[in-house]
Formats: sequence, C-alpha cells, structure tokens
Amino acid sequence: MHAAGLDFGTSNSAIGVIRDGAPVLAPIDGGSAMMPSAIFFDFEEERPSFGREAINAYVSGHDGRLMRSLKSILGSRLVKEDTFLRTRRVPFTTILGLVIGEMKKRAEEFLGAPIDAVVHGRPVHFVDGDAAADRFAEDTLTQIAEDAGFAHVAFAYEPIAAARAYERTIAREETALIADIGGGTSDFSVVRLSPDRRDQAERASDILATGGLRLGGTDFDRLLSLDAVMPVFGLGASLKSKRLPMPSILYAELAHWPSINNLYNARTLREVRELDADCREPQKSRRLLQVIEKRLGHRVAMEVEGAKIRLTERESDAVDLSLVEAGLSAPVTRSAFDAAIAEELSRMAQCVRETLAKAGVNAAGQKTLRLNSQKVDTIFVTGGSGLVPAVRQLLAALLPHAVLRSGDDFLSVAKGLTEEARIRFG
Ligand SMILES: Nc1ncnc2c1ncn2[C@@H]1O[C@H](COP(=O)(O)OP(=O)(O)OP(=O)(O)O)[C@@H](O)[C@H]1O
Ligand SMILES: [Mg+2]
Repeated sequence: MHAAGLDFGTSNSAIGVIRDGAPVLAPIDGGSAMMPSAIFFDFEEERPSFGREAINAYVSGHDGRLMRSLKSILGSRLVKEDTFLRTRRVPFTTILGLVIGEMKKRAEEFLGAPIDAVVHGRPVHFVDGDAAADRFAEDTLTQIAEDAGFAHVAFAYEPIAAARAYERTIAREETALIADIGGGTSDFSVVRLSPDRRDQAERASDILATGGLRLGGTDFDRLLSLDAVMPVFGLGASLKSKRLPMPSILYAELAHWPSINNLYNARTLREVRELDADCREPQKSRRLLQVIEKRLGHRVAMEVEGAKIRLTERESDAVDLSLVEAGLSAPVTRSAFDAAIAEELSRMAQCVRETLAKAGVNAAGQKTLRLNSQKVDTIFVTGGSGLVPAVRQLLAALLPHAVLRSGDDFLSVAKGLTEEARIRFG
C-alpha cells in the first residue's frame, strides 16, 4: 500500500508520499511542491488547468473562469450547490474533486505507483460554532477523496500535523503553542513534543488542546481591499436619484476571493451600468463598471494580496490598479492595514487565550493549578499569514516568556501530514 499526506489549503496545496520509507513532498507544480489552490476552466479548451498554469492562463486573458479559495466552500452552504461554467451546471464538489484528483495523479507520477491511502489535513473548525456543518464538511471531503480513488481516508488537524513537522527539528522535550495562520483559517494546538516520541502513532496524551477559527489571509485581503481599494471604485459614493450610497454588497463580494465570480452575470452587469449612470462620482463608478465588464475581479484581488504581502516588509506601498485605469493606484500603509484587521486580530487573540486555557496554561504561559502542565516554551508559527507582523506581535504578547520560532511557512503542514501517513499506514 502507498500512502500520501495531503494538505489542501485555501491558498496553497501540497502532497507528500513515502518513498523508500521516508516522507518526501512531490513536485506537483512545475518542479515546486507548493501549488496555488487554483483551477482555470478555459472556455475554448476541454481540460481545466491547475496551480500556476491556471493563474497564468487567467492573467494572460484567456476566456474562461478562475476559481480560488475553493476550500472555503467546504465550510459554507455553497458546498451543496452547483456553479455555472458558461452554460454547464457543475456541482462545487465535482470541482473540488478535480483539484484533489489532479494532485493525486501528479503525486503518483512522481512516486511511480498508485496511491491508495491518504491522511488529509483539516482545520480544527471548517465552520465556527456549528458541529453538524463541520462534520458535513469533513464527510464531503471524505467522499471527494474516495471518489478520487483513495481507498483509505484519514484526517489530521492541520496544527497537529505542523507540530509533527516541528517536532522533527527539536533536540529536547518541550511544550509548544503551534499556530498555523493560513489563507482561510487560523489553527492552534498546545502540544508536548519530544524527539523520543515522534515516531509514535498514539499521541493523544501529548495534545493538550486544539482550537481554531475561520479567519485567515483571504480575510486580510478582503479588509485591505474594502479599506484602500473599493472606495476608489465608488464604495461610499452617493447616488443622484436616491439619498443612498452605492450598494456595499457589490463591493463586499468583489473584495472576497470566493464570491468574485458571483458578480459575473448579466443581471449584475445591468445593475452596475444603472448605478454608473446614477453615481455622483462617475469617475469612480466607471472603474467598477470596467472591473465587472472586463472580469478583472481576481486581477484586482491579486494586486491587493501582493500589496498586503509587501506590507510585511515595508511600512507603505501601493496597490497597482493600472489594469483598471491607466496610472491608477491606491496607497496602503502598514498602520492602516493593522487598523483594518484589528477586530479580526482580537478574535484571533481570544481564540488563542481559550486554547491556552483549555490546555491549563494561563495567558502568561505559566502552569495553572487546574492542570499540572508545563509552561509553554515555544510558539511555533507557520502558514503564510503567520508572516504578518501584527499576527506575530499578537502571539508574542500573549506568551511573553515563550520563544517565537518559525519553520517552513508554507510546507510544514504537508510535511507533518506525510509523517502522519508514514506512521499510520506504514
Ligand atoms: N509575506 C507574507 N506576508 C503576509 N501574508 C502572506 C505572505 N506570504 C503569503 N501570505 C498569505 O498567506 C496566505 C496563504 O498561506 P498558506 O499557504 O499557509 O495558506 P493555506 O494553507 O492555503 O490556507 P489554510 O491553511 O487556511 O487553508 C495567503 O493569504 C497569502 O496572501
Ligand atoms: Mg494551511
């Protein structure tokens, strides 16, 4: 039997296999182990493209449809629905299956053998505060994996997988808060790690607590876009005919990766044309019309994401909007970005506090009487959004005595899942 560890991420995905007894990530995207979680349906061609190829096809202007952030659909009502590819009705689950099936196929090509077992990563919560919907999301993913040809499907929490990966790098026992801040979710675990126990399958007694929430980098993109870019497209501008502003729902959908495609239909186009004729700031509404007419939503979102990533290193930058209007850009600053995400960051802090409390560790990282656990020695931060300075500051402030460490920001979950696959399936 051959087994794989599969990290199907909101923004990026990876799959690892066991080769000659050792876990190794498969190069599934032009030599790279990390594949953007994207699929592009070219309306001229029969076969969809995946990963970087999908993004390049979309950016170079092929007529078709790009889909990203598909994982967030698993935790939403959309998972039971269909979507339209031009005139064809396709269930979202079929599209998810295409991505997972393609990853499996590419990993098998690398391994040179069929893979029949998989350890799938999953966030601690696909859905916040709704156990039934959460179970439904996992059941749906199980079904998709089985349909893709995996006879044995197991799950592991992403922050436990990241802990497995981090554990391979330590020399002595420690207690760690593992924080995996990704594109769609923030996931935490408090774990006791030891080089002596890293090959054991049964580690339940070392997992002191897990927690998580549906909040990640795509939310940061949305909030930055609403703060800095959407006003340039007319958010907040008033209408001439009524004492109302431009409808904010349009901007909310345009700023959020998974809902951008909802705007590409004849009804929305008609509505935006009417709004453009009625807007008191026509220069701005004309830009919105351009974006809808030319289907530039994902291009704009990519520019926003790019500026957000640059703000990790810089205090100020700009979102290039020249694809919408020659010479147009929207300035962004680190401090305005921090303010835009502040509310979400306090939700994140609350989730970490609750996870630590569950583990019997107080917010200062000291052992409490309730549970005789050790103090937290390390915060291991992984996931792309773990690079956001405000996120790191928040984590460091919650556990001032712990050492902040990071590893492979985009691949530790996949590495840990592959370790898990080796241990569970041999
Ligand atoms: N240097 C950076 N600074 C800030 N954010 C970044 C940086 N690099 C990547 N990101 C963000 O990290 C996110 C992707 O991280 P990652 O690949 O860990 O997510 P994922 O595993 O796909 O998502 P999830 O685990 O939530 O399903 C994106 O939102 C991306 O914009
Ligand atoms: Mg992830």
